[in-house]
Amino acid sequence: MPEGVWAAPGRVNLIGEHTDYNDGFVLPIAIDRHAVVALGTRPDDRIRLWSLEEADPVDVSFDEVGPGTIHGWGAYAAGVAWALRRASGSPGSGFEGVVTSSVPIGAGLSSSAALGSAFASGLAELWDAHLDPIALARVAQRAEVEVAGVPCGLMDQMASILCRSGHALFVDMRTLSIDHIPADLTATGVELLIIRTMAPRRLVEGRYADRRAECDSAALALGVDALRDVSLDRLERAAGRLDARRYRRARHVVTENARVLAFVQDLRGGRADGLGSLLTASHRSLRDDFEVSTPELDTAVEAALSTGALGARMIGAGFGGSVLALAPRTIAGRIAAAATTSLPEHGFAAPDVFTVTPAGGSRRVG
Ligand code: GLA
Repeated sequence: MPEGVWAAPGRVNLIGEHTDYNDGFVLPIAIDRHAVVALGTRPDDRIRLWSLEEADPVDVSFDEVGPGTIHGWGAYAAGVAWALRRASGSPGSGFEGVVTSSVPIGAGLSSSAALGSAFASGLAELWDAHLDPIALARVAQRAEVEVAGVPCGLMDQMASILCRSGHALFVDMRTLSIDHIPADLTATGVELLIIRTMAPRRLVEGRYADRRAECDSAALALGVDALRDVSLDRLERAAGRLDARRYRRARHVVTENARVLAFVQDLRGGRADGLGSLLTASHRSLRDDFEVSTPELDTAVEAALSTGALGARMIGAGFGGSVLALAPRTIAGRIAAAATTSLPEHGFAAPDVFTVTPAGGSRRVG
């Protein structure tokens, strides 16, 4: 019997991509699409889970779960139990549950963080494990990194757990200090349009790990703890210490951090005018310096911009997924239509286009 139902949202990062694991700045919003999990404890030591979207159920004993022992969606779900037990010191217990999710997989909207965060919120309550929200986000991240083997940063789980409705979550990823910034762009006549390219994402984890390694190695060569510590001036002066590729990777991180700070300042000051160009500059940097975009994403960005979007960029890790476009409401339909025709004209699948608004983080819903 379920003892409760918990929901955790996916996210759209407004700006600040590939900065989280460089101790930098991020600015995600949670979206109104959720992983929902109904959970109850069991008297024995088994974990039994069903997903409404996945064919294979999970049926393992508690002690079987750990790094490398469980694969597929179960790694995110049961992996949270493993990580929560370590973080909280709670002995835990077997449990069972059913999960469903409206966060599309492979769309760059953090379906896995939504799943992990829903389990983390639910299990923490079932086990009476009192963790603060950041510690809970770390539990979901640890499951993803250590049990599922995906070397992600902490942004997605923080967004899924900590976001507030109507606000973006500004995080300094070094100190983990947070600030909820009012981000009701709809009130200024601007829609957040998501253009989800339907191309399958390929080799994301390996290429993501490569980018992390390149950033770490650039920081080492520059003699800093993380690329967060470098200004554009300093980077240019020290350019001779980096090969061309690591220089470009570092330049993306350095300029992206500056764009997040500018974006936050504009949001705080109620100035919507400059937000679009920051977004577009972020895309160009992710495309040219960080090299994580794809032809589908670039085509969607150009289609949105040439139809009057204020700005557009790929979101998430890249190598596929979605584009975020800032669309004046009066022409949002036209921008969506342009993306829908432009991608097939270039030989790509037609995208799924929808709007999002800043939603709240994970919570108990039943
Ligand atoms: C993925 C990771 C995040 C972050 C983004 C890129 O979503 O899970 O930690 O690194 O990519 O900004």
